[in-house]
Amino acid sequence: MDIKVASAGITKVETGAMVVFMFEGEKRLGRELGALNRKLGKVITASIENGEMKGRAGELNVFHSLGRMPVQRVAVAGLGKKEEFKLDKLRAAAAESCRALKQNKVTDITVLATSIADGRKFSQEDYARAITEGAMLGLYSFRKYFTKENDFKEVKKLTLLSTSEDGVAAIKKGSNKGRIIAEAVCLARDMVNEPANYLTPAAMADIAKKIAEDNKLEITVLEREDMQKLGMGALLGVSRGSVQPPKMIIVSYKGRKSNDIDLALVGKGITFDTGGISLKTAAGMEEMKADMSGGAAVLAAIGSIARLKLKINVTVVVPAVENMPDGGAIRPSDILTALTGKTIEIISTDAEGRLILCDALGYINKSKPKAIIDIATLTGACIVALGKQCSGILGNDQSLVDRIIESASEEGEAVWQLPLFEDYRDNIKSSVADIKNGGSGGGGTITAALFLSEFVGDTPWAHMDIAGTNFTDRDRKYLVKGGTGVPVRTLVNLAIKMSGGRKK
Ligand code: BES
Ligand code: MN
Ligand code: ZN
Repeated sequence: MDIKVASAGITKVETGAMVVFMFEGEKRLGRELGALNRKLGKVITASIENGEMKGRAGELNVFHSLGRMPVQRVAVAGLGKKEEFKLDKLRAAAAESCRALKQNKVTDITVLATSIADGRKFSQEDYARAITEGAMLGLYSFRKYFTKENDFKEVKKLTLLSTSEDGVAAIKKGSNKGRIIAEAVCLARDMVNEPANYLTPAAMADIAKKIAEDNKLEITVLEREDMQKLGMGALLGVSRGSVQPPKMIIVSYKGRKSNDIDLALVGKGITFDTGGISLKTAAGMEEMKADMSGGAAVLAAIGSIARLKLKINVTVVVPAVENMPDGGAIRPSDILTALTGKTIEIISTDAEGRLILCDALGYINKSKPKAIIDIATLTGACIVALGKQCSGILGNDQSLVDRIIESASEEGEAVWQLPLFEDYRDNIKSSVADIKNGGSGGGGTITAALFLSEFVGDTPWAHMDIAGTNFTDRDRKYLVKGGTGVPVRTLVNLAIKMSGGRKK
Protein backbone atom coordinates (compact mmCIF):
# COMPACT_ATOMS: atom_id res chain seq x y z
CA MET A 1 0.00 0.00 0.00
CA ASP A 2 1.26 3.37 -1.03
CA ILE A 3 0.91 5.96 1.76
CA LYS A 4 0.97 9.67 0.99
CA VAL A 5 0.29 12.98 2.70
CA ALA A 6 -1.45 15.69 0.69
CA SER A 7 -2.94 19.09 1.22
CA ALA A 8 -5.96 20.05 -0.84
CA GLY A 9 -9.50 21.35 -0.64
CA ILE A 10 -11.60 18.51 0.75
CA THR A 11 -14.21 18.37 -2.01
CA LYS A 12 -11.56 18.54 -4.73
CA VAL A 13 -9.71 15.33 -3.94
CA GLU A 14 -10.01 12.52 -6.42
CA THR A 15 -10.49 9.44 -4.27
CA GLY A 16 -12.58 6.30 -3.87
CA ALA A 17 -13.57 7.30 -0.35
CA MET A 18 -12.94 10.21 1.99
CA VAL A 19 -12.96 9.15 5.63
CA VAL A 20 -13.93 11.88 8.10
CA PHE A 21 -14.19 11.38 11.87
CA MET A 22 -17.02 12.59 14.05
CA PHE A 23 -17.54 12.72 17.80
CA GLU A 24 -20.69 11.40 19.42
CA GLY A 25 -23.48 13.90 19.88
CA GLU A 26 -21.71 16.65 17.96
CA LYS A 27 -24.32 18.96 16.53
CA ARG A 28 -22.18 21.28 14.44
CA LEU A 29 -20.23 19.90 11.56
CA GLY A 30 -16.64 21.03 11.22
CA ARG A 31 -15.60 23.12 8.24
CA GLU A 32 -14.60 20.11 6.12
CA LEU A 33 -17.57 17.90 6.88
CA GLY A 34 -19.75 20.96 6.33
CA ALA A 35 -18.31 21.44 2.84
CA LEU A 36 -18.84 17.77 1.99
CA ASN A 37 -22.38 17.97 3.37
CA ARG A 38 -23.25 20.83 1.05
CA LYS A 39 -21.94 18.90 -1.96
CA LEU A 40 -24.01 15.90 -0.88
CA GLY A 41 -27.26 17.86 -0.68
CA LYS A 42 -27.15 17.98 3.16
CA VAL A 43 -27.59 14.26 3.55
CA ILE A 44 -25.13 14.27 6.46
CA THR A 45 -27.05 16.80 8.56
CA ALA A 46 -30.26 14.98 7.66
CA SER A 47 -28.98 11.67 8.96
CA ILE A 48 -27.75 13.31 12.15
CA GLU A 49 -31.11 14.98 12.67
CA ASN A 50 -33.16 11.86 12.11
CA GLY A 51 -30.91 10.00 14.55
CA GLU A 52 -29.34 7.56 12.09
CA MET A 53 -25.87 8.90 12.57
CA LYS A 54 -24.69 9.47 16.13
CA GLY A 55 -20.90 9.36 15.95
CA ARG A 56 -20.65 6.39 18.31
CA ALA A 57 -17.39 4.48 18.41
CA GLY A 58 -17.48 1.76 15.76
CA GLU A 59 -20.18 3.50 13.72
CA LEU A 60 -19.62 4.05 10.00
CA ASN A 61 -21.92 5.75 7.50
CA VAL A 62 -21.03 5.79 3.83
CA PHE A 63 -22.58 8.34 1.44
CA HIS A 64 -22.11 8.09 -2.31
CA SER A 65 -21.50 11.38 -4.08
CA LEU A 66 -22.95 10.23 -7.42
CA GLY A 67 -20.56 12.36 -9.41
CA ARG A 68 -21.20 15.61 -7.52
CA MET A 69 -17.50 15.88 -6.68
CA PRO A 70 -14.30 13.92 -7.38
CA VAL A 71 -14.68 12.30 -3.93
CA GLN A 72 -16.67 9.16 -4.81
CA ARG A 73 -17.80 8.33 -1.29
CA VAL A 74 -17.80 10.09 2.05
CA ALA A 75 -17.38 7.73 4.99
CA VAL A 76 -18.17 9.25 8.38
CA ALA A 77 -16.56 7.25 11.19
CA GLY A 78 -17.68 7.66 14.81
CA LEU A 79 -15.10 8.28 17.54
CA GLY A 80 -17.43 8.14 20.57
CA LYS A 81 -17.64 10.88 23.18
CA LYS A 82 -15.07 13.65 22.95
CA GLU A 83 -14.40 13.55 26.72
CA GLU A 84 -13.47 9.87 26.42
CA PHE A 85 -11.19 10.31 23.43
CA LYS A 86 -7.96 8.33 23.30
CA LEU A 87 -5.62 7.80 20.36
CA ASP A 88 -6.57 4.14 20.36
CA LYS A 89 -10.15 5.09 19.41
CA LEU A 90 -8.83 6.90 16.36
CA ARG A 91 -6.61 3.93 15.51
CA ALA A 92 -9.64 1.62 15.78
CA ALA A 93 -11.93 3.92 13.77
CA ALA A 94 -9.35 4.25 10.99
CA ALA A 95 -8.94 0.47 10.92
CA GLU A 96 -12.62 -0.37 10.89
CA SER A 97 -13.55 2.19 8.25
CA CYS A 98 -10.69 1.17 5.95
CA ARG A 99 -11.59 -2.50 6.36
CA ALA A 100 -15.27 -1.87 5.60
CA LEU A 101 -14.32 0.13 2.51
CA LYS A 102 -11.95 -2.60 1.38
CA GLN A 103 -14.77 -5.12 1.66
CA ASN A 104 -16.69 -2.92 -0.77
CA LYS A 105 -13.71 -3.01 -3.12
CA VAL A 106 -12.61 0.58 -2.60
CA THR A 107 -8.89 0.59 -3.39
CA ASP A 108 -8.04 4.26 -2.95
CA ILE A 109 -8.82 5.79 0.45
CA THR A 110 -8.20 9.30 1.77
CA VAL A 111 -8.44 10.07 5.47
CA LEU A 112 -8.90 13.58 6.80
CA ALA A 113 -6.04 13.87 9.27
CA THR A 114 -6.67 17.42 10.50
CA SER A 115 -9.47 18.90 12.63
CA ILE A 116 -9.90 15.75 14.69
CA ALA A 117 -9.96 17.04 18.23
CA ASP A 118 -9.12 20.54 19.33
CA GLY A 119 -8.56 19.71 22.99
CA ARG A 120 -4.84 19.64 22.05
CA LYS A 121 -4.37 16.67 24.32
CA PHE A 122 -2.55 15.04 21.45
CA SER A 123 -0.47 16.54 18.68
CA GLN A 124 -1.18 16.51 14.97
CA GLU A 125 1.74 14.10 14.69
CA ASP A 126 0.03 11.71 17.15
CA TYR A 127 -3.19 11.74 15.14
CA ALA A 128 -1.36 11.00 11.91
CA ARG A 129 0.55 8.19 13.54
CA ALA A 130 -2.63 6.60 14.93
CA ILE A 131 -4.47 6.87 11.59
CA THR A 132 -1.61 5.31 9.67
CA GLU A 133 -1.21 2.50 12.17
CA GLY A 134 -4.95 1.85 12.28
CA ALA A 135 -5.27 1.73 8.50
CA MET A 136 -2.23 -0.51 8.01
CA LEU A 137 -3.06 -2.87 10.86
CA GLY A 138 -6.76 -3.07 9.98
CA LEU A 139 -6.01 -3.77 6.33
CA TYR A 140 -3.45 -6.44 7.14
CA SER A 141 -3.98 -9.83 5.54
CA PHE A 142 -1.97 -13.02 5.34
CA ARG A 143 -2.63 -14.41 1.87
CA LYS A 144 0.66 -16.04 1.03
CA TYR A 145 -0.70 -19.56 0.73
CA PHE A 146 -3.79 -18.86 -1.38
CA THR A 147 -3.23 -20.00 -4.95
CA LYS A 148 -6.17 -17.99 -6.32
CA GLU A 149 -6.92 -14.31 -5.91
CA ASN A 150 -10.62 -15.11 -5.33
CA ASP A 151 -12.69 -12.01 -4.71
CA PHE A 152 -9.97 -10.14 -2.94
CA LYS A 153 -8.94 -6.54 -3.59
CA GLU A 154 -6.10 -4.88 -1.73
CA VAL A 155 -6.30 -1.16 -0.86
CA LYS A 156 -3.58 0.30 -3.06
CA LYS A 157 -3.43 3.89 -1.98
CA LEU A 158 -3.89 5.63 1.36
CA THR A 159 -3.70 9.41 1.55
CA LEU A 160 -3.67 11.43 4.76
CA LEU A 161 -5.22 14.76 3.96
CA SER A 162 -4.27 18.03 5.56
CA THR A 163 -6.60 20.93 4.93
CA SER A 164 -3.71 23.36 5.24
CA GLU A 165 -0.14 23.43 3.91
CA ASP A 166 1.36 23.94 7.35
CA GLY A 167 -0.17 20.75 8.72
CA VAL A 168 1.70 18.64 6.19
CA ALA A 169 5.09 18.42 7.94
CA ALA A 170 3.68 17.14 11.24
CA ILE A 171 1.38 14.69 9.48
CA LYS A 172 4.29 13.36 7.42
CA LYS A 173 6.36 12.88 10.55
CA GLY A 174 3.58 11.07 12.41
CA SER A 175 2.61 8.99 9.43
CA ASN A 176 6.22 7.89 8.87
CA LYS A 177 6.56 6.85 12.48
CA GLY A 178 3.22 5.03 12.27
CA ARG A 179 4.28 3.24 9.12
CA ILE A 180 7.56 2.05 10.65
CA ILE A 181 5.78 0.77 13.75
CA ALA A 182 2.86 -0.80 11.87
CA GLU A 183 5.27 -2.54 9.50
CA ALA A 184 6.96 -4.06 12.54
CA VAL A 185 3.61 -5.24 13.91
CA CYS A 186 2.74 -6.75 10.51
CA LEU A 187 6.12 -8.46 10.35
CA ALA A 188 5.45 -10.02 13.75
CA ARG A 189 1.97 -11.07 12.56
CA ASP A 190 3.46 -12.64 9.43
CA MET A 191 5.82 -14.73 11.52
CA VAL A 192 3.03 -15.79 13.87
CA ASN A 193 0.66 -16.71 11.04
CA GLU A 194 3.31 -18.71 9.23
CA PRO A 195 2.73 -22.44 9.88
CA ALA A 196 5.35 -24.46 11.74
CA ASN A 197 6.32 -26.57 8.72
CA TYR A 198 7.66 -23.36 7.18
CA LEU A 199 8.58 -21.37 10.26
CA THR A 200 11.11 -23.71 11.84
CA PRO A 201 13.74 -22.44 14.30
CA ALA A 202 16.14 -22.18 11.34
CA ALA A 203 13.62 -20.14 9.35
CA MET A 204 13.17 -17.85 12.33
CA ALA A 205 16.93 -17.34 12.47
CA ASP A 206 16.90 -16.49 8.74
CA ILE A 207 14.23 -13.84 9.30
CA ALA A 208 16.30 -12.44 12.17
CA LYS A 209 19.32 -12.30 9.83
CA LYS A 210 17.27 -10.36 7.31
CA ILE A 211 16.10 -7.90 9.98
CA ALA A 212 19.71 -7.50 11.15
CA GLU A 213 20.99 -6.99 7.61
CA ASP A 214 18.29 -4.46 6.71
CA ASN A 215 19.01 -2.40 9.82
CA LYS A 216 22.78 -2.98 10.23
CA LEU A 217 22.38 -4.83 13.51
CA GLU A 218 24.80 -7.25 15.06
CA ILE A 219 23.53 -10.85 15.04
CA THR A 220 24.72 -14.12 16.50
CA VAL A 221 22.95 -17.42 16.10
CA LEU A 222 24.04 -20.08 18.55
CA GLU A 223 23.90 -23.63 17.19
CA ARG A 224 23.33 -26.79 19.20
CA GLU A 225 27.09 -27.33 19.73
CA ASP A 226 27.51 -23.75 21.01
CA MET A 227 24.66 -24.28 23.42
CA GLN A 228 26.14 -27.57 24.57
CA LYS A 229 29.42 -25.81 25.34
CA LEU A 230 27.56 -23.13 27.27
CA GLY A 231 25.60 -25.73 29.21
CA MET A 232 22.10 -24.77 28.14
CA GLY A 233 20.70 -28.07 29.31
CA ALA A 234 17.14 -26.86 29.79
CA LEU A 235 16.73 -25.48 26.27
CA LEU A 236 18.53 -28.47 24.74
CA GLY A 237 16.26 -30.78 26.71
CA VAL A 238 13.17 -29.29 25.07
CA SER A 239 14.71 -29.57 21.60
CA ARG A 240 15.47 -33.27 21.97
CA GLY A 241 12.08 -34.48 20.79
CA SER A 242 12.29 -32.62 17.48
CA VAL A 243 14.23 -33.19 14.28
CA GLN A 244 14.50 -29.41 13.89
CA PRO A 245 17.80 -28.14 15.32
CA PRO A 246 17.38 -25.43 17.98
CA LYS A 247 18.69 -21.90 17.40
CA MET A 248 19.43 -19.19 19.91
CA ILE A 249 19.12 -15.88 18.14
CA ILE A 250 20.82 -12.79 19.58
CA VAL A 251 20.42 -9.41 17.86
CA SER A 252 21.87 -6.14 19.14
CA TYR A 253 21.18 -2.53 18.28
CA LYS A 254 23.48 0.24 19.45
CA GLY A 255 21.78 3.61 19.50
CA ARG A 256 24.26 5.28 21.81
CA LYS A 257 28.00 5.18 22.52
CA SER A 258 28.40 2.70 25.32
CA ASN A 259 28.68 -1.04 25.64
CA ASP A 260 25.91 -1.20 28.22
CA ILE A 261 22.73 -2.98 27.28
CA ASP A 262 19.95 -0.60 28.34
CA LEU A 263 17.20 -3.04 27.56
CA ALA A 264 17.29 -6.78 26.93
CA LEU A 265 14.20 -8.27 25.33
CA VAL A 266 13.78 -12.02 25.50
CA GLY A 267 11.02 -13.68 23.46
CA LYS A 268 9.75 -17.25 23.65
CA GLY A 269 10.31 -18.90 20.29
CA ILE A 270 8.57 -22.28 20.42
CA THR A 271 7.83 -22.74 16.71
CA PHE A 272 5.28 -25.42 17.56
CA ASP A 273 4.16 -26.69 20.94
CA THR A 274 2.71 -30.19 20.85
CA GLY A 275 3.28 -30.45 24.59
CA GLY A 276 5.97 -33.08 24.00
CA ILE A 277 5.50 -36.38 25.86
CA SER A 278 2.92 -34.54 28.04
CA LEU A 279 1.01 -34.30 24.76
CA LYS A 280 -1.67 -31.67 24.35
CA THR A 281 -5.19 -32.66 23.33
CA ALA A 282 -6.03 -32.28 19.64
CA ALA A 283 -8.67 -29.54 19.85
CA GLY A 284 -7.14 -26.16 19.12
CA MET A 285 -3.60 -27.48 18.87
CA GLU A 286 -3.20 -25.68 15.53
CA GLU A 287 -2.93 -22.42 17.47
CA MET A 288 0.34 -23.67 18.91
CA LYS A 289 2.07 -22.51 15.73
CA ALA A 290 1.77 -19.14 17.46
CA ASP A 291 3.86 -20.20 20.46
CA MET A 292 6.75 -18.15 19.05
CA SER A 293 4.79 -14.89 19.25
CA GLY A 294 7.05 -13.45 21.96
CA GLY A 295 10.10 -14.10 19.81
CA ALA A 296 8.41 -12.59 16.76
CA ALA A 297 7.48 -9.49 18.76
CA VAL A 298 10.98 -8.79 20.06
CA LEU A 299 12.60 -9.33 16.65
CA ALA A 300 10.10 -7.03 14.96
CA ALA A 301 10.48 -4.47 17.74
CA ILE A 302 14.27 -4.21 17.50
CA GLY A 303 14.01 -3.65 13.74
CA SER A 304 11.73 -0.67 14.21
CA ILE A 305 13.73 0.65 17.19
CA ALA A 306 16.67 0.77 14.78
CA ARG A 307 14.64 2.36 11.99
CA LEU A 308 13.46 5.04 14.42
CA LYS A 309 17.15 5.60 15.34
CA LEU A 310 16.40 5.64 19.06
CA LYS A 311 19.23 6.57 21.43
CA ILE A 312 19.23 3.32 23.35
CA ASN A 313 21.12 0.04 23.32
CA VAL A 314 18.82 -2.94 22.93
CA THR A 315 19.60 -6.63 22.67
CA VAL A 316 17.03 -9.24 21.88
CA VAL A 317 17.35 -12.94 22.58
CA VAL A 318 15.10 -15.53 21.01
CA PRO A 319 15.46 -19.17 21.95
CA ALA A 320 13.86 -20.89 18.95
CA VAL A 321 12.93 -24.53 19.52
CA GLU A 322 10.23 -26.97 18.46
CA ASN A 323 8.51 -28.99 21.20
CA MET A 324 7.83 -32.46 19.78
CA PRO A 325 7.41 -35.92 21.31
CA ASP A 326 9.79 -38.31 19.50
CA GLY A 327 11.83 -41.16 20.96
CA GLY A 328 14.60 -38.86 22.11
CA ALA A 329 12.24 -36.50 23.89
CA ILE A 330 12.57 -35.63 27.54
CA ARG A 331 10.00 -37.15 29.92
CA PRO A 332 8.28 -36.12 33.09
CA SER A 333 10.67 -36.96 35.98
CA ASP A 334 13.81 -36.18 33.95
CA ILE A 335 16.21 -33.73 35.55
CA LEU A 336 17.90 -31.05 33.42
CA THR A 337 20.73 -28.68 34.31
CA ALA A 338 20.23 -25.10 33.18
CA LEU A 339 22.99 -22.75 32.03
CA THR A 340 23.15 -21.14 35.47
CA GLY A 341 23.79 -24.56 37.00
CA LYS A 342 20.36 -24.91 38.58
CA THR A 343 18.79 -28.36 38.27
CA ILE A 344 15.19 -28.70 37.14
CA GLU A 345 12.87 -31.62 37.64
CA ILE A 346 10.50 -32.01 34.68
CA ILE A 347 6.92 -32.39 35.83
CA SER A 348 5.38 -31.60 32.47
CA THR A 349 7.14 -31.46 29.12
CA ASP A 350 4.35 -29.04 28.16
CA ALA A 351 5.81 -26.43 30.52
CA GLU A 352 8.58 -26.01 27.95
CA GLY A 353 8.45 -22.24 27.59
CA ARG A 354 10.08 -21.61 30.96
CA LEU A 355 12.77 -24.19 30.11
CA ILE A 356 13.96 -22.41 26.98
CA LEU A 357 13.49 -18.98 28.57
CA CYS A 358 15.51 -19.81 31.67
CA ASP A 359 18.57 -20.49 29.52
CA ALA A 360 17.98 -17.37 27.43
CA LEU A 361 17.58 -15.29 30.62
CA GLY A 362 20.61 -16.90 32.24
CA TYR A 363 22.62 -16.22 29.07
CA ILE A 364 21.75 -12.53 28.66
CA ASN A 365 21.96 -11.87 32.39
CA LYS A 366 25.70 -12.60 32.20
CA SER A 367 26.06 -9.40 30.13
CA LYS A 368 24.49 -7.44 33.03
CA PRO A 369 21.77 -5.59 31.12
CA LYS A 370 20.13 -2.71 32.96
CA ALA A 371 16.70 -4.24 32.50
CA ILE A 372 15.29 -7.46 31.07
CA ILE A 373 11.79 -7.98 29.75
CA ASP A 374 10.70 -11.38 28.57
CA ILE A 375 7.64 -11.87 26.41
CA ALA A 376 6.03 -15.29 26.24
CA THR A 377 2.89 -17.23 25.45
CA LEU A 378 3.59 -18.96 28.70
CA THR A 379 0.47 -20.15 30.47
CA GLY A 380 -3.12 -21.11 29.73
CA ALA A 381 -3.72 -19.91 33.30
CA CYS A 382 -3.18 -16.34 32.14
CA ILE A 383 -6.14 -16.69 29.76
CA VAL A 384 -8.24 -18.02 32.64
CA ALA A 385 -7.22 -15.05 34.80
CA LEU A 386 -7.34 -12.18 32.29
CA GLY A 387 -9.08 -13.41 29.15
CA LYS A 388 -7.96 -12.87 25.58
CA GLN A 389 -7.78 -9.09 25.49
CA CYS A 390 -5.30 -8.41 28.23
CA SER A 391 -1.72 -9.57 28.79
CA GLY A 392 -0.36 -10.39 32.23
CA ILE A 393 2.72 -8.72 33.65
CA LEU A 394 4.84 -9.65 36.64
CA GLY A 395 8.29 -8.62 37.73
CA ASN A 396 10.86 -8.05 40.45
CA ASP A 397 11.10 -4.29 39.88
CA GLN A 398 7.95 -2.20 40.28
CA SER A 399 9.29 0.85 38.50
CA LEU A 400 10.11 -1.22 35.39
CA VAL A 401 6.68 -2.85 35.54
CA ASP A 402 5.05 0.58 35.90
CA ARG A 403 6.92 1.95 32.88
CA ILE A 404 5.79 -0.98 30.75
CA ILE A 405 2.18 -0.61 31.91
CA GLU A 406 2.28 3.09 31.05
CA SER A 407 3.77 2.40 27.61
CA ALA A 408 1.15 -0.27 26.96
CA SER A 409 -1.74 1.88 28.08
CA GLU A 410 -0.70 4.71 25.75
CA GLU A 411 -0.79 2.20 22.90
CA GLY A 412 -4.12 0.68 23.84
CA GLU A 413 -2.48 -2.71 24.47
CA ALA A 414 -4.10 -3.86 27.71
CA VAL A 415 -1.89 -5.35 30.42
CA TRP A 416 -2.64 -6.16 34.02
CA GLN A 417 -0.17 -6.89 36.77
CA LEU A 418 -0.33 -10.13 38.70
CA PRO A 419 1.55 -10.53 41.97
CA LEU A 420 4.86 -12.31 42.27
CA PHE A 421 4.09 -13.63 45.75
CA GLU A 422 7.17 -15.11 47.41
CA ASP A 423 5.00 -17.58 49.32
CA TYR A 424 4.10 -19.27 46.05
CA ARG A 425 7.72 -20.25 45.53
CA ASP A 426 6.99 -23.39 47.56
CA ASN A 427 4.88 -24.53 44.62
CA ILE A 428 7.95 -24.99 42.43
CA LYS A 429 10.09 -26.71 45.09
CA SER A 430 11.17 -30.16 44.00
CA SER A 431 12.02 -33.12 46.22
CA VAL A 432 14.75 -34.31 43.85
CA ALA A 433 16.18 -31.15 42.20
CA ASP A 434 16.62 -27.42 42.88
CA ILE A 435 13.25 -26.59 41.32
CA LYS A 436 10.55 -28.20 39.21
CA ASN A 437 8.94 -26.90 36.04
CA GLY A 438 5.33 -27.55 36.95
CA GLY A 439 3.55 -25.76 39.72
CA SER A 440 1.05 -27.24 42.11
CA GLY A 441 -1.72 -25.37 43.85
CA GLY A 442 -3.03 -23.11 41.09
CA GLY A 443 -1.83 -19.64 40.15
CA GLY A 444 -0.06 -21.03 37.09
CA THR A 445 0.95 -17.64 35.70
CA ILE A 446 2.51 -16.66 39.01
CA THR A 447 4.43 -19.89 39.50
CA ALA A 448 5.69 -19.74 35.90
CA ALA A 449 6.97 -16.21 36.54
CA LEU A 450 8.53 -17.26 39.83
CA PHE A 451 10.33 -20.02 37.95
CA LEU A 452 11.77 -17.45 35.52
CA SER A 453 12.72 -15.10 38.36
CA GLU A 454 15.21 -17.74 39.53
CA PHE A 455 17.36 -16.98 36.47
CA VAL A 456 17.67 -13.19 36.47
CA GLY A 457 19.40 -12.61 39.81
CA ASP A 458 19.00 -9.01 40.95
CA THR A 459 18.61 -7.54 37.47
CA PRO A 460 15.42 -5.48 37.11
CA TRP A 461 13.16 -7.85 35.21
CA ALA A 462 9.59 -8.03 34.01
CA HIS A 463 7.72 -10.86 32.35
CA MET A 464 4.76 -10.43 30.04
CA ASP A 465 2.47 -13.40 29.54
CA ILE A 466 0.81 -12.96 26.14
CA ALA A 467 -0.85 -16.40 25.95
CA GLY A 468 -4.26 -14.76 25.55
CA THR A 469 -3.39 -11.72 23.47
CA ASN A 470 -1.00 -13.00 20.81
CA PHE A 471 -3.69 -14.51 18.62
CA THR A 472 -7.30 -13.63 17.89
CA ASP A 473 -10.07 -15.72 16.40
CA ARG A 474 -11.90 -12.75 14.86
CA ASP A 475 -11.35 -9.31 13.36
CA ARG A 476 -11.66 -6.71 16.12
CA LYS A 477 -10.73 -3.02 15.88
CA TYR A 478 -7.30 -3.02 14.18
CA LEU A 479 -6.76 -6.69 14.91
CA VAL A 480 -7.25 -9.23 12.16
CA LYS A 481 -7.99 -12.93 12.75
CA GLY A 482 -4.65 -14.60 13.46
CA GLY A 483 -1.50 -13.19 15.05
CA THR A 484 -1.99 -9.78 16.67
CA GLY A 485 1.61 -8.57 16.86
CA VAL A 486 1.14 -7.79 20.57
CA PRO A 487 3.16 -6.26 22.28
CA VAL A 488 5.37 -4.76 19.54
CA ARG A 489 3.87 -1.27 19.91
CA THR A 490 4.28 -1.35 23.68
CA LEU A 491 7.94 -2.31 23.36
CA VAL A 492 8.71 0.34 20.77
CA ASN A 493 6.91 2.98 22.83
CA LEU A 494 8.87 1.93 25.91
CA ALA A 495 12.12 2.22 23.96
CA ILE A 496 11.07 5.67 22.72
CA LYS A 497 10.39 6.75 26.31
CA MET A 498 13.59 5.23 27.69
CA SER A 499 15.72 6.80 24.98
CA GLY A 500 14.21 10.24 25.17
CA GLY A 501 13.97 10.49 21.39
CA ARG A 502 15.99 9.96 18.25
CA LYS A 503 19.71 9.52 17.76
CA LYS A 504 21.34 12.46 15.95
N1 BES B 1 2.26 -22.52 25.06
C1 BES B 1 1.57 -22.97 26.21
C2 BES B 1 0.68 -21.89 26.83
C3 BES B 1 -0.52 -21.47 26.00
C4 BES B 1 -1.73 -22.10 26.15
C5 BES B 1 -0.40 -20.42 25.10
C6 BES B 1 -2.81 -21.69 25.40
C7 BES B 1 -1.51 -20.01 24.36
C8 BES B 1 -2.71 -20.65 24.51
C9 BES B 1 2.57 -23.41 27.26
O1 BES B 1 3.74 -23.97 26.78
C10 BES B 1 1.90 -24.48 28.08
O2 BES B 1 1.61 -25.51 27.55
N2 BES B 1 1.71 -24.18 29.36
C11 BES B 1 1.09 -25.12 30.25
C12 BES B 1 1.88 -25.11 31.54
C13 BES B 1 1.52 -26.22 32.49
C14 BES B 1 1.88 -27.55 31.90
C15 BES B 1 2.27 -26.01 33.78
C16 BES B 1 -0.34 -24.67 30.49
O3 BES B 1 -0.61 -23.47 30.57
O4 BES B 1 -1.19 -25.55 30.54
MN1 MN C 1 3.55 -26.03 26.39
ZN1 ZN D 1 4.31 -23.38 24.91
